[in-house]
Amino acid sequence: MMTFDEILPTVREMLDAHQADVKRIDWLLINRDLYGRVRLIAPETAREDDASRTALETLAVRFAERLGAHAYPPDLAILYEADKKLAFQGAAAFRLEGHDNVWLVDRLATESNWASIAPESTGAPRVVFFSIKGGVGRSTAVAACAWKLAQLGKRVLVLDLDLESPGLSTHLLPFERQPRYGITDWLVEDLVDNGQSVFEEMYATSELARDGEIYVVPAHGREAGEYVAKLGRVWMPKIHSEGRRDSWSRRLQRLLQALEERLRPDVILIDSRAGIDEIASACVTDLCANLVLLFALDGNQTWSGYRILFQHWLRAGVAQEIRKRLQIVAALVPEIAPSDYLADLREHAYDLFLDTLYDEIEPADTEGWSFDLADETAPHRPLAVRWHRGFAALRTLYGRFEQIDENEIRLVFGDLIDFLLYYLEWGDGYIQVIDGGRF
Ligand SMILES: Nc1ncnc2c1ncn2[C@@H]1O[C@H](COP(=O)(O)OP(=O)(O)O)[C@@H](O)[C@H]1O
Ligand SMILES: [Mg+2]
Repeated sequence: MMTFDEILPTVREMLDAHQADVKRIDWLLINRDLYGRVRLIAPETAREDDASRTALETLAVRFAERLGAHAYPPDLAILYEADKKLAFQGAAAFRLEGHDNVWLVDRLATESNWASIAPESTGAPRVVFFSIKGGVGRSTAVAACAWKLAQLGKRVLVLDLDLESPGLSTHLLPFERQPRYGITDWLVEDLVDNGQSVFEEMYATSELARDGEIYVVPAHGREAGEYVAKLGRVWMPKIHSEGRRDSWSRRLQRLLQALEERLRPDVILIDSRAGIDEIASACVTDLCANLVLLFALDGNQTWSGYRILFQHWLRAGVAQEIRKRLQIVAALVPEIAPSDYLADLREHAYDLFLDTLYDEIEPADTEGWSFDLADETAPHRPLAVRWHRGFAALRTLYGRFEQIDENEIRLVFGDLIDFLLYYLEWGDGYIQVIDGGRF
């Protein structure tokens, strides 16, 4: 019985078998609809040309035979469109390997598809804190990094984009300093062209910054208000009066741009949602991230989750666009035998990268992108964030940061903070120069 995962390999096989027929058509879209059923979309000109039309009809019959429940009946399986771009209708699409004129167009019920990678920001570096599992200390790490960077004089913009499980802002701001509005408010107001009325009251500065500044943009304001009703609308695309459509992640990009222009930060830290989730996809792939920190516990759930993502990027042909931005972080490294734990985690992270994102080359080779297990500049080399009882089960971090012990922060987050400082100082290019390494 044909099931979803067999669609793509089968389609490829059939296209290969009908290579000559496929070639004669200007372009061909394999449209996988919301239900996972496949149709062909071809140009109007192919309908006029007898040979092309016959080739398409033959293909439609073969599709129906092979794809079973995942195909349309042959007489309904071909659509003709004048314009290829119109036929895409904003769906995720990628070219099928070996067929320059064929795209898979994948219609998903969600807007985010994890496969369209926005180019890196050329403004303040954007650092996304992501993990497969929740509760691994991401928000705490964002707060600690913001604290340290601000101590060193940086202007840090921090966004709580874990909209379904907000909380970062309470780590950095006492209740009375929380701004009146948050990201959800802006996203909802923007739908009715009213974003401006909340914009100036959706960020607050933290008193924890010494020489620099920490601007905190929470998920919601001091009073969450009708949070559930707002959250249910943040996903909405916005249709502008001239008919232009802004997906919700594009709206988020606009917000980030506006905040950056207003607050002029040196660095932007984004607390993402965990898991293979729509908001997380926006954070990791759509917000022009420069660096994506992949928090990891050394467990099967983590590695299989990352493997799914990495394989998805490979399949969609975008792995090269995202892989250089990735960095593994070992979350909550246990107090007992931390070195053994880190060594195991490194090995599992290495296996993952080697099987998926690293090129198949000798590490000494200067062409291609791959690293040794032991390479300290490799993205699989885990930056350690240590479990520390001082950070466990706190009601809020705020009180702790007020009387923070610098040494404790160093002990727990030092590896990550050093990496960030290095990254901010030297950015791309530096490590490559000194070690032939990654950046
Ligand atoms: N380094 C740490 N050591 C011990 N406990 C921690 C550490 N970092 C976070 N925690 C605790 O773990 C829980 C989850 O932390 P949080 O930062 O909210 O995780 P996430 O944002 O990944 O969901 C909280 O109770 C927090 O106090
Ligand atoms: Mg969190």
